[in-house]
Amino acid sequence: MDCQKYLFSLPDDHHYLNCAYFSPLLKSVEEAGIHGVQQKQEPWHTTSAHFFNQSNVLRSLFARLTHAEHANNIAIIPSASYGLSTIAKNLPAKSSKKIIIVGEQFPSNVYPWMRYCQNSGCKLQIIEPPAQFENRGHKWNEHILDAIDSSTLMVAIGHIHWTDGTLFDIEAMGKRAREVGAYLVIDGTQSVGALPFDIQTIKPDALICAGYKWLMGPYSIGLGYFSERFLNGIPLEEGWIERKDSENFARLVNYTDEYQPGAVRYDVGERSNFILVPMLIKALEQLLEWQPANIQQYCRQLTSDLTEQLPQYGYRIEDPDWRAHHLFGIHLPDHINVNNLQQKLTRNNIHVSVRGSALRVSPHVYNNEKDIAALQQTLISSV
Ligand SMILES: Cc1ncc(COP(=O)(O)O)c(C=O)c1O
Repeated sequence: MDCQKYLFSLPDDHHYLNCAYFSPLLKSVEEAGIHGVQQKQEPWHTTSAHFFNQSNVLRSLFARLTHAEHANNIAIIPSASYGLSTIAKNLPAKSSKKIIIVGEQFPSNVYPWMRYCQNSGCKLQIIEPPAQFENRGHKWNEHILDAIDSSTLMVAIGHIHWTDGTLFDIEAMGKRAREVGAYLVIDGTQSVGALPFDIQTIKPDALICAGYKWLMGPYSIGLGYFSERFLNGIPLEEGWIERKDSENFARLVNYTDEYQPGAVRYDVGERSNFILVPMLIKALEQLLEWQPANIQQYCRQLTSDLTEQLPQYGYRIEDPDWRAHHLFGIHLPDHINVNNLQQKLTRNNIHVSVRGSALRVSPHVYNNEKDIAALQQTLISSV
C-alpha cells in the first residue's frame, strides 16, 4: 500500500502521528458532511425513507468491517460510554460475581462498571500491568486469562491498551469467558478500523466503538455490535424510531411495546443524523477499500526502523508481537522529562500524545517517511 496522504487535507509542515487522539478528515468525508449541512436548506429533499436507509447502510458497512453476522446486530451510538452504559443496564444483577478490567483502562470502559458494581454488589477486579518491562505484554495477558474463573460475570477490555498499544489476546479471553459462562465486552475504539477484528472468531458479546478515531468519522457518532445475548434488552432511551413500525409516520401514535428487530433498539435518539451518518458511511467505505490488515502492515513497515533504533538510545517499546503497529508507547530514558520532550516535539510540529509516562505514537496511512524521520531525529537528539 502506498501513502494515502493525497486523500486528506494535511499540510506538509505538520507531522500528525496522533490518530489515537482524533483522526484527520478524509476529503470525501468532509464533502459528505458539507452536503449533509446543505441538504437542510431545502428540507423537502429529506423524505421519511431517509430516516432509515442511510442508517441501515451504515450498519451494513460496520457489519462488513467486523464480520458481524447481520447488520441488525449493529446499533448507532453517540459515544463509547453510551454503548457500554447500555450493556451495564442489561447485565443481570449478580452480587456474587466479578467484572474484570485492566489497569488504567479508558474511563468510558470503567465508570459504567463502577456504577453497576455499586448497585449490584458485584466486584471489580483490576488486572494491573506487570511492573517489569521484560516480557510485559505476554505476562499481562497471562494474568488476565488466569483471573477468568467461575466467579466472572464479564471481561470488559480493549483489543489493545489505549495508552501504549499492548495487544490483548481477546480470542483466548473469549474462549475462557465462554467456558465459565462470562460475557466478553470489547471497547474497539482504539483498534477497529486499523487492526483486523473478526466477530466470528473472537465471538464477543458486544463490541463498542467511538467513530472519530480509527473509524475516521466525525465526532459524536459511533457503532456498537450486540450479540444475541443482548438483543432482548432495554435501551437507555425510549425513542420512537426504535419501535416496531416506526417507518409508518402516519401511525406513530399507535403506541407499541415492541422494538425494531435486533440491536436497533439501542440506537441513540435522532440516530438518522443527516450530517454525521453520511460522513461515517464515507469513512467506512474507505476503510473497507484499504482493509485494516493493510493499514496495520503499512504502519508496521513505516515505523520498523524507528522502533528498532530507539532502544539503542535508552527508549523502551513493547515487543512487536505484543503490541499494535498503529498505536504504541515509547517509554523514555529516566533522565528525559516527558512534558519537556512533548513541548519540543510540538515546536517541531510533531503531534503525538503523552499518556502516563510514555509518548503515544499513532500513525496511519497518511503518514510518510518524513513524519517518522522528524520524530526519530527529535527523540535521538534529546537523549
Ligand atoms: C479506549 C477508548 N475508548 C473510548 C474512548 C472515547 O470514549 P467516549 O466515546 O465515551 O468519549 C477513547 C478516547 O480516547 C478511548 O481511548
